[in-house]
Amino acid sequence: MSQASEPKKGPVLVLLGGTGDLARRMLLPSLFHLEADGLLPDGLRIYGVARDGQSPDTYRTNVRAALELREKTIEEDAWKRFIARVDYFSGDVTKPEGAKALADAIGGHSELYIYFSVSPSIYPKACESLAGAGLIRENTRLVLEKPIGRDLESSKALNCAVAKVATEEQIFRIDHYLGKETVQNLIALRFANIAFEPLWTNHTIDHVQITVAETEGVGDRWPYYNEYGALRDMLQNHMIQLLCLVAMEPPADLDPDSVRAEKVKVLKALRPMSRATVSQEVVLGQYTSGVSDGKSVTGYLDEVGKPTDTETFIALRCFIDNWRWAGTPFFLRTGKRLPERRTQIVIQFKPLPHSIFSNSANADMVANRLVIDLQPQEDISLVLMNQRPGLAQEGMRLQPMPLSLSLAKAYSGHGGRRRIAYERLLLDVFRGDRTLFVHRNEVEEAWAWVDGVAEAWQQAGLKPKNYAAGTSGPAGVHALIERSGHQWHD
Ligand code: BG6
Repeated sequence: MSQASEPKKGPVLVLLGGTGDLARRMLLPSLFHLEADGLLPDGLRIYGVARDGQSPDTYRTNVRAALELREKTIEEDAWKRFIARVDYFSGDVTKPEGAKALADAIGGHSELYIYFSVSPSIYPKACESLAGAGLIRENTRLVLEKPIGRDLESSKALNCAVAKVATEEQIFRIDHYLGKETVQNLIALRFANIAFEPLWTNHTIDHVQITVAETEGVGDRWPYYNEYGALRDMLQNHMIQLLCLVAMEPPADLDPDSVRAEKVKVLKALRPMSRATVSQEVVLGQYTSGVSDGKSVTGYLDEVGKPTDTETFIALRCFIDNWRWAGTPFFLRTGKRLPERRTQIVIQFKPLPHSIFSNSANADMVANRLVIDLQPQEDISLVLMNQRPGLAQEGMRLQPMPLSLSLAKAYSGHGGRRRIAYERLLLDVFRGDRTLFVHRNEVEEAWAWVDGVAEAWQQAGLKPKNYAAGTSGPAGVHALIERSGHQWHD
């Protein structure tokens, strides 16, 4: 709590958008968890910033309410320590006088972390006035939430505006998927094990599937979502990051620049889509009313209240034109109001070049598959062929069996609680480790490719097809993958 009589010092975290949805659902609970684990920097003060004129005490009461919504129990000692750090500032930091008043409220400090949990449209003005008020200096780190632009041009404009006040080393662009433990585990799986590396190529991998399915609809987020759609809201960032982690070459080390360089190479090698091929490579959908999680739900158009061609589902096939991946299709699909929540990566290996088994055994033969479940459960399983025990007239019988690693079970004794992705990321902001953050080059390369996809489908006049809420996407999603001789792993 701010006490005017005591000189203020120590690190400060400023949460712009401190009363917003992200702050309430993710950021404040993550900070509280870090507090409970003793991981917050010593002396850290946290300022929620918004424009609604509430008092610091009301803010603290609201922080408690937000925590109670998601926590089963709140450890009271940790809560006391945590809330003693929290203060609230009401004002408009896009205006010089607002930024100056915030600087006065914060007073002396060591490191300053400014988290932009607000609409990106206000980043440039906020940066300018915060810098004018002396709040962006060498010891300041800026944390930027997605979306970083809506296309390459707006993304560049935004990055340039921020670059006027801070160096790239001071900027932490969040893609919260990179904070998920299972996503980091993908890095461990690939680069801490020798077993997969020789197989991780177009010689042995037939294709890759990346699915991010959600049961939730868009609801009252539609004013934002309708401008972006599934391509820009999910695929440009989270899914492309997953694709990069699957496809990149081993970096020399985990230094942020080494990792970023490898991801950028993948992005540069993504084959552009063309007007001629896009209708064979992309399927767009928009949900109509239906049943989701056992409840009747309205369609997207009813939520928006006007006609719109924004896609709430996208599936596409893409290629990475480099030596490792030439000819191996990557299938990506994501959508709202699908039958289940699931984020999954499937590495489908090629069939055997020649089988030595009898016809009946061969009938049961499937190619090896590595399935990486990221959420809701965290599992890795490798489907291997096995000999079915017992005697049979026809000789040896085969059976596919998963070799499974359930991360939840393996680590059930280690604190149990599943971490919020933002905990890792906030901790890394405090530590100054940018490995799990997105560099400007990555954002811009990803937009360059995504812009090409959107442009191709506009030229080809592609429109989203309806799918009922609770079903697995529009007609055409199966044909997309079947044309290459494959099936979705559902
Ligand atoms: C956000 C998107 O970035 O990620 C949302 O804007 C989406 O539309 C969310 O629902 C999904 O995140 P998670 O962690 O729930 O898979």
